Amino acid sequence: MRKIEKNNITSLSIQVGEDETSRRFVWYNDIDTAGVRLQYALKSDYDADGGFTDENSKVVSGRSKIPYKNTEFVSCKAEIYDLTLGETYIYRVGDRYSYDDSTYTFNTYDNLDKKQSFGIVSDIHMNRKNYETETPESVQNQVNRWQNVMAKMQEVSPELGFIVSTGDNISIHNMYSLTDEETAKIAEKEHETLFAPALSKSIPFASTMGNHEITWAWDNIKFDWGHSNVMGYHYNLPNDDGESGMVLDKSMANFYFISGDVLVIGIHDMAGKTAGAFQNLTTEKNKAYIQKACEANPNARWKILVTHIPPYAFYASDDETKHMRDVFDDYCDEFNIDVVFTGHSHLFARSKHIKGNAVTNDIVTSVKNDKGYQTAEVTDPTGTVYYNVPSALDHAFAGADSDYKTWLNAWGSTTGEANKTADFGEGVKYDSPMFINVDTDSTGTTPKMVIKTMRSDNLEAIDTYTIYKNDK
Ligand SMILES: [Fe+2]
Ligand SMILES: [Fe+2]
Repeated sequence: MRKIEKNNITSLSIQVGEDETSRRFVWYNDIDTAGVRLQYALKSDYDADGGFTDENSKVVSGRSKIPYKNTEFVSCKAEIYDLTLGETYIYRVGDRYSYDDSTYTFNTYDNLDKKQSFGIVSDIHMNRKNYETETPESVQNQVNRWQNVMAKMQEVSPELGFIVSTGDNISIHNMYSLTDEETAKIAEKEHETLFAPALSKSIPFASTMGNHEITWAWDNIKFDWGHSNVMGYHYNLPNDDGESGMVLDKSMANFYFISGDVLVIGIHDMAGKTAGAFQNLTTEKNKAYIQKACEANPNARWKILVTHIPPYAFYASDDETKHMRDVFDDYCDEFNIDVVFTGHSHLFARSKHIKGNAVTNDIVTSVKNDKGYQTAEVTDPTGTVYYNVPSALDHAFAGADSDYKTWLNAWGSTTGEANKTADFGEGVKYDSPMFINVDTDSTGTTPKMVIKTMRSDNLEAIDTYTIYKNDK
């Protein structure tokens, strides 16, 4: 017997599918609801018919699971396939008995191997740790700021296909010595804020795990950095190695998808934090995972790897990054990865091209304008370029130079091995939420990828990097 009469949907997020013909969804509903359904239709049919009908729409059933230590909500997941490209769809979600009143739209894009746009963000750090003293306004402010960053990304690229985060989308951490229940409560609130923006229902999202996502390690596995449960209830990512993507595999939280001629691989890198057998196991599994992704997509012109901790970082805390460098060199050389996007430092840096743990002879031409903003390009590079993606919200460290220096010092030497290898020069902190927009274009003589690192406040590109590439 149904206990409640209405759906109570929160944290609804549209996420990337295996390719452009599919989308994946995840949301929370009241724990007393039964069943999981998603209804969708072409927007043009919906408008012509004055709403959803049996004829114009399809309904898919999903699955649900009650998150550990949660007494209020149930996590619901569903996927849709065989979408027509170049269309606008409308959808709604609900339980076995009814749908929520709200409807949302999303687009599919055609000819993505010719041209496409997508975004990269990092370290959003929704923060609800002080939920007992916070005001509704302060929570809404976080929602608005994240919504605003996504809106700016869309302003730069009206046909923005998806957004991938390198992780640290939330801030709670079980190192705060809270009880499991309290930690879970805050993690849930932070995810609710993360997925509250309207654009979270329209622009497909994906994320790797930052160190702030992975610490929800229940069942006597606390501080084993390879585990995550709570994140598994808020993500529904393609080609996840976990059990139906619901509870993540104990050493993996990886995903990959193909968008036109771009293969995006998300790798759980937290092996960099631990030593010994577990680290080796993860490294081996990650390598096999990347190989599987590449072999499944032999026609990908561009291969992008997204992970949280930077193997090459200007701040070069060597104990944290040394292992990552060894591993990533291997991955990137063997599988011809073009670009690695990382986060964690909250600062911006772009490396030279690297192969075999050394800077290549690839010639990068570059000019700076009077603001110090850089425009650079390279043709047919032989190595991989590494990005430290700056923070998309930066609640904790916005603004003052003193904050920047404190942050920098906290991350160790700027002259360590990693910096020397990658020849980053200085990492840069900007007093604005930041994002990266990527455009690919294969319509000209030489296919290119243009990577723009942008301030969200004034939409100035602080770094524009074009990679021309003749061969796949
Ligand atoms: Fe972070
Ligand atoms: Fe981090």
